[in-house]
Amino acid sequence: MKKSYHVIIVLLFASSPLFAQVDYETQIQTIFNARCTNCHGANGGVDLSSFNSLMSSVGNAYGDRVVVAFEPDSSGLVDKIEPSPMFGSRMPQGGMLDQSDIDLIRQWISEGASAVPASNEGESLNPEEFKLLGNYPNPFNPGTQILFDVPVATQYTVSIYSINGQLITEQVGNASAGRVQVSVNLGANPSGMYFYRVSAQMNGATRLIGTGQMTLIK
Ligand code: HEC
Repeated sequence: MKKSYHVIIVLLFASSPLFAQVDYETQIQTIFNARCTNCHGANGGVDLSSFNSLMSSVGNAYGDRVVVAFEPDSSGLVDKIEPSPMFGSRMPQGGMLDQSDIDLIRQWISEGASAVPASNEGESLNPEEFKLLGNYPNPFNPGTQILFDVPVATQYTVSIYSINGQLITEQVGNASAGRVQVSVNLGANPSGMYFYRVSAQMNGATRLIGTGQMTLIK
């Protein structure tokens, strides 16, 4: 009996690295920056320049979002980087990705294609600067998460505006240094584009962290 316990413990330890989730910014965006964004920037079509643009990209040929969370085999993005895609040529056009990069992209989608690995939630990442990371999902209905990094403990304000610039709702909170995730629910509002503004208040001064836009589709 004692012996088999040992075996189980060893297996648990050996397999734990498998649970480390893929981090979009450092592991996936870096592949796109090196191999894809020279052709797939913000010039229409599939835009691989950021998490938000990728998640809202609809393929011409695929007629749908190119990333389907949890389903790499239904994601046009994966089809396009593997041999013999359903439409057009294998990407990056004129070359191919290393198998390790393809595996990483598949793994990231299988884990839910999130902006931030689940294992990092609530954990201090020690960011060096104030940075707005965007919102996910986008488009959304009725809720979305706005993500930003703060290098020090601060009070923050997330303000949501209608397309006419009217303030819809405002959330004020306190964050410790690290990644902050603020849930916004616009279920009581009509479909359409909204703007958001994230700022930090420290020592009596207000500092803009960033602004973004997002689309509610009911
Ligand atoms: C040299 C330019 C170039 C590079 C680099 C490139 N692509 Fe493309 N990509 C294209 C062109 C042109 C098309 C449309 C023709 C086709 O599908 O073969 C396309 C189509 C696509 C589509 C399908 C779009 C649709 O409308 O259905 C996806 C997804 C895609 N690329 C992903 C990538 C990824 C991921 C990378 C990087 C690993 C990459 N591409 C690198 C030029 C490029």
